[in-house]
Amino acid sequence: MHISSHFLLLGATAVNAGVVKLRGTSKIPDYFQTSYGPFAGPTEAGSAPFLAQTILAPFGQHSYVPNTPVVTDVPIIGENDGADAFKNMGNLSPYMPNPSGFGVKEYPLPPGTNITQMHMVHRHGSRYPTSSASVATFPDRVAELLGNGTRFTGNLAFLNSWKYQLGKEELTALGRQQLFDSGVLNWFDYGRLYDPSSPLIARTTTQVRMLQSAENFLNGFFGPNWTKNVTLEVLIEETGFKNPLAGDKACPNNDNDRSAAGDWASTQWQEKYLKSATNRFRQSMTGNPNWTIEDTYNAQTMCPYETVGLGYSPFCSLFTREEWLGFEYSIDLSYYGGNGFASPTGRAVGVGYVEELIARLQHHYSQPDEGYTAINETLDTSPTTFPFNQNLYLDFSHDTTIFSMLTALGLTQFGEFLPTSGPPPNRQLVVSHIVPFAGRFNIEVIKAPRPVLARRSEDPQASDYESEGDETTYVHLLMNQRTIPLGRSITECGERDDGWCELQTFIKVQKENIAKAKFEESCFGNYSIPVYGDITTGAI
Ligand SMILES: *[C@@H]1O[C@H](CO)[C@@H](O)[C@H](O)[C@H]1NC(C)=O
Ligand SMILES: *[C@@H]1O[C@H](CO)[C@@H](O)[C@H](O)[C@H]1NC(C)=O
Ligand SMILES: *[C@@H]1O[C@H](CO)[C@@H](O)[C@H](O)[C@H]1NC(C)=O
Ligand SMILES: *[C@@H]1O[C@H](CO)[C@@H](O)[C@H](O)[C@H]1NC(C)=O
Ligand SMILES: *[C@@H]1O[C@H](CO)[C@@H](O)[C@H](O)[C@H]1NC(C)=O
Ligand SMILES: *[C@@H]1O[C@H](CO)[C@@H](O)[C@H](O)[C@H]1NC(C)=O
Ligand SMILES: *[C@@H]1O[C@H](CO)[C@@H](O)[C@H](O)[C@H]1NC(C)=O
Repeated sequence: MHISSHFLLLGATAVNAGVVKLRGTSKIPDYFQTSYGPFAGPTEAGSAPFLAQTILAPFGQHSYVPNTPVVTDVPIIGENDGADAFKNMGNLSPYMPNPSGFGVKEYPLPPGTNITQMHMVHRHGSRYPTSSASVATFPDRVAELLGNGTRFTGNLAFLNSWKYQLGKEELTALGRQQLFDSGVLNWFDYGRLYDPSSPLIARTTTQVRMLQSAENFLNGFFGPNWTKNVTLEVLIEETGFKNPLAGDKACPNNDNDRSAAGDWASTQWQEKYLKSATNRFRQSMTGNPNWTIEDTYNAQTMCPYETVGLGYSPFCSLFTREEWLGFEYSIDLSYYGGNGFASPTGRAVGVGYVEELIARLQHHYSQPDEGYTAINETLDTSPTTFPFNQNLYLDFSHDTTIFSMLTALGLTQFGEFLPTSGPPPNRQLVVSHIVPFAGRFNIEVIKAPRPVLARRSEDPQASDYESEGDETTYVHLLMNQRTIPLGRSITECGERDDGWCELQTFIKVQKENIAKAKFEESCFGNYSIPVYGDITTGAI
């Protein structure tokens, strides 16, 4: 083992390549160590794929992501092109830009206007199931049935000899690709914001997939010598540690029954939308075994996981389009009640990032009255670990924490009540549009010489600026490459067709949002378990 070259050496600490340094014993502060340490989290390698031998494709003409190595055009029941199924897998959808946008027009920048900063938060890429995922119990369930003498028939016959080949927790090859591709994309979009004369800090967490996601992104962004361009800061991801990129770890009530209403709601919905599939499945097995709705749900969940781990999954084609739409909604309910406005800890888990964003936008460290309840005060009050002189802020996080960041930012666009009976028309909360694998948001800071018209002219020759006024700075929030209309959630931003918000207005509103999270009470309070639908503000 030798010292990773991933960190720049700050100060006088000298390290000889080849010297063994373990986390905790090194002179290098732990937040600059990029070797896998005691907080790396559990992982397990999966079987190596063998797609050249096992491929049943091609099935159709198009797969929704061009040039992707995994097979997403599997036919589903009632259709000959299954690609749409992959757009409806919630947080398990492979990365895609939201195909329908968030309900606002998107414009090129008016001439004379400059993007001066970009604040990104990026989810890790496609991974194997987490250790606690119920899908990982599915192989035991199948083995139990086979052991009891059941045999599968028809389109389930493959289960008679099926083997579970997924690993745990770590990025799949597709996950690495997604982050690399995103690094390339972000390089194309924002490369010029990088200042080679000034050191850059990017931040991730200690979990293996988080570290590897950041590394793959930076490799895509800067190339293989990226360690010469950026220092990766690695925040401890472990229960009890304050880490805005893994906000649940310092919020006990996010991990107990007080935030479980979303999972309850999801189960209610699963019992409805998978009833007919469960009956269908029962007809394809002998011996009348006790095959449950939960079994069907786990079978459906195998599809996205096997696809991103092995390249193809026979489970995908066992479901109809309606059932894939139902799958998406089952995940939407879970996020709404667990991490969004229907969760008592929805805002609290994401509020640490809001505190950090305000500090970065104002170029000064948080003051107690602005709140540093949810941040690591040691790291976030030092220019070494929390600098303000960057034009690019690259952070890596998890789906649930990112969802909570959006809740903490007050994006009530995603706060509509979701009934367990089925999706309301035109709902905005679609998890695959928000935190698919490798999902990300980019907050651009845009400086304009004069105020930009709230209503852009239809005439391409007309000026985009108001006829008078001073230099004005705006915030533009993109989620997966599509604009979020800030005025729709934050009335102070005004109804602008470009979705932007004036910077000082945005900062003022976000300062108010810190208090709205009620961090201490929501995360640590001994309150009775809320019933689904009781909480609507993302806090207790
Ligand atoms: C990376 O840096 C090393 C050492 O400075 C250099 O030899 C190598 O050519 C660089 N590689 C690339 C791809 O720039
Ligand atoms: C990254 O650092 C290397 C080595 O100093 C340098 O050659 C390269 O230009 C830098 N990349 C950018 C985008 O500035
Ligand atoms: C803050 O980060 C430092 C450096 O990793 C760590 O030692 C400390 O325990 C963290 N504090 C909290 C409250 O998480
Ligand atoms: C398998 O058989 C055992 C013993 O009869 C029974 O307890 C169990 O519920 C059966 N499992 C399933 C999945 O039917
Ligand atoms: C079927 O399995 C479910 C879940 O394991 C269990 O709750 C239920 O009692 C079982 N039903 C029968 C008839 O065994
Ligand atoms: C945008 O950048 C250009 C080139 O650096 C500069 O001349 C111009 O003044 C900038 N505009 C604003 C509004 O800052
Ligand atoms: C929490 O509240 C319940 C009900 O009021 C009470 O029984 C319990 O002792 C309290 N727990 C703690 C840790 O205060």
